[in-house]
Amino acid sequence: MSIALIIPDRDLTQLEQRLQASLTDTKVEIWPNISQKDQVEFALVWKPPLGSLSSLTNLKAIQCFGAGVDAILLDPALPDVPIARIVDDKLNQTMVNYLQGVVAHYKLRLDQFSQQQQQGIWKPKSPRKLASICILGLGELGSAAAKHFVDLGYQVSGWSRTAKKLADVTCYSGEAELSQAVANADVVICLLPLTDKTENLLNAAVFAQFKTNSIFINVARGAIVDDKALIDALDSGKLQAACLDVFRQEPLANTDPFWQHPAILITPHISAVTNLNSAIEQTLLNYQRYKQGLPMLNVIDRKQGY
Ligand code: NAP
Ligand code: GLV
Repeated sequence: MSIALIIPDRDLTQLEQRLQASLTDTKVEIWPNISQKDQVEFALVWKPPLGSLSSLTNLKAIQCFGAGVDAILLDPALPDVPIARIVDDKLNQTMVNYLQGVVAHYKLRLDQFSQQQQQGIWKPKSPRKLASICILGLGELGSAAAKHFVDLGYQVSGWSRTAKKLADVTCYSGEAELSQAVANADVVICLLPLTDKTENLLNAAVFAQFKTNSIFINVARGAIVDDKALIDALDSGKLQAACLDVFRQEPLANTDPFWQHPAILITPHISAVTNLNSAIEQTLLNYQRYKQGLPMLNVIDRKQGY
């Protein structure tokens, strides 16, 4: 039996050595250098190349190296095996820290002062009044963020697929309630998974429901947003700023208009990077559970796509 690590464009030396050191009876190999594909029963993956998983004819379980499984589900020939994802308090905390920093950036008008600095302008302004935050997606990351902003004293609303109850959060659910969820928020944060239902969800019609002058933060996946609709919403003044950590195409192409837009802040998909120790712990635990015939922890629902 062997484990395949399918995580392209990344130095996997440490990951491979640490997993191998804990698994004396199992070979750990790095894709595409797999000695016997039919021996691979378990794969640890991130953005696996199309066809890589379907070529493993004896695959029984997949562990995703991150929280979002959209890149795994892209493969039409994906074997019908359980897929587990990372669920980690450390990841939640990293995301919460990022979001708190971005909200503080806008609250303190650092975006405007940075532009003033470039023009040598000395013009004091009082902080923006950002009192209400809406979080689209109330799962592991979204509910942690919602709780954090409640604790900081914000009015928090949230939106999910199924109805939720979270202390001091006004919860909305289902397509029909999306417009209510975003209507009064000074800041809207996207923490939805990318699925058939959420692709291009944030389009011109939805941005039109946002509060005028609101700020949009996308830390989920780029394809949830209609890029042109976002730029139009910024240009028309419907939105006053957007912070984007994720993009349809990553790395973002040099020619992408997002780079030069004065109201867009770009970060290179760093808001919540998987903690290596947590990924190793969760992979080893799920592998042991698989070998013992137990269900893996944090298995996603393939039908829902997350
Ligand atoms: P999660 O636990 O699976 O939660 C997803 C949330 O979205 C749930 O509340 C779910 O509703 C809601 N949802 C799903 N489909 C919906 C729909 N059609 N309409 C309304 N709500 C919908 O996911 P998570 O761990 O919080 O992570 C969210 C996403 O963040 C990941 O999928 C990934 O793409 C992204 N992410 C980004 C980074 C980064 O560094 N930028 C890091 C980690 C994760 P229910 O509660 O009703 O199921
Ligand atoms: C990162 O984007 C993740 O989904 O973990």
